[in-house]
Amino acid sequence: MRSDPLQYLSDELSSLREQGLYRRLRVLDDEQKPKTSIDHRSVVNLSSNNYLGLTTHPKLRERALQAIRDLGVGSGSVRTIAGTMAIHMELEEKLATFKHTEAAVVFQSGFTANAGTVSSILTKEDVIISDELNHASIIDGARLSRATIKVFPHKDVHAARKILQELPKPQRKLLITDGVFSMDGDIGALPDLCDLAAEFGCIMMVDDAHASGVFGRNGRGTVDHFGLHGRVDVQVGTLSKAIGALGGYVAGNRALIEFLYHRARPFLFSTSHPPSVAASCLAALEVLETEPQWIDRLWENTRFFKSGLQALGFNTGLSESPITPVIAGDGAQAMKLSDRLFEEGVFAQGLAFPTVPRGKARVRTIVTATHTRDELQFALDCFKKVGKELGII
Ligand SMILES: Cc1ncc(COP(=O)(O)O)c(C=O)c1O
Repeated sequence: MRSDPLQYLSDELSSLREQGLYRRLRVLDDEQKPKTSIDHRSVVNLSSNNYLGLTTHPKLRERALQAIRDLGVGSGSVRTIAGTMAIHMELEEKLATFKHTEAAVVFQSGFTANAGTVSSILTKEDVIISDELNHASIIDGARLSRATIKVFPHKDVHAARKILQELPKPQRKLLITDGVFSMDGDIGALPDLCDLAAEFGCIMMVDDAHASGVFGRNGRGTVDHFGLHGRVDVQVGTLSKAIGALGGYVAGNRALIEFLYHRARPFLFSTSHPPSVAASCLAALEVLETEPQWIDRLWENTRFFKSGLQALGFNTGLSESPITPVIAGDGAQAMKLSDRLFEEGVFAQGLAFPTVPRGKARVRTIVTATHTRDELQFALDCFKKVGKELGII
């Protein structure tokens, strides 16, 4: 009989089980809401990127349904062949206006926006200078580009400067940071990095996945938050988190966007969004402009919950955003914390190595605009109970 060539994968999974790091996928039995049913248990959901509650907003639902009625359920092709519908172009125009840039291009996801852009605008002759905590999609894009990758310690602008000083002047360089770091919830060192980019002639790129819809006027992101318009050459945003639907985009000058139309491989080789997705995103952009109360509520809830966790004595790291990590130490402890919270009625995903560094395993909490105070207070009470029980506080 043929021996199983994939046996090593089962061995790896057994090892994860032994370390207490094996995860079963949790299944949402209901909508993506702040209080929902997961694995048939009613829980306060602190693990969603649905910052503004737009996944279930009536205007987004209605526009998606209308697009399905008018335009069908699929685009039928990649963008560069027959898969560019008028609604895709309309979304790109609206995003460019929203971001105050000349143009924008939409990708299937934030992941492909980052990976497709970094890998296509650089070659093996070039250098990428990247924060050590940048998202996996940036890392993968950097690897695919075959450029030399130089990593600087998290937010250490002096270290980034040192790297730049040692590089030959004429070499093409990309300086890249997340706008908001997804595991720690802190904000990238944008103003200082923009100064460095100007001084050393770098292309400046920001991944604003967790800042889109959260920071800046009406959720325009960290470039707007810091008043850095015109100083960041490549702005990536996502449509999958606060915007409530799916997708990613790059905003920048016309040449950048046209180049990506010609060379970004996910754009060229993967089918475009169904029209309903583009329609939901268009409705979301309107909601950002006309219903600013959601962003206000998101920040009120963020302040309430973060200060509550800190008052209980949890280590919440350096978070400055609605993402608040609760650092638990080793992976097994973080998974235990997450599991016990779930039993008590709170869903906060545990994260361990390799998603976060060893010894800094955590549960990551994300509040949304649509959580009620009672839900957040209930969650704090559960954190108190379980944190004490596990000796974390
Ligand atoms: C910092 C960061 N960039 C990019 C992405 C990818 O975005 P998307 O989920 O739209 O692919 C994520 C999401 O996980 C993220 O956290």
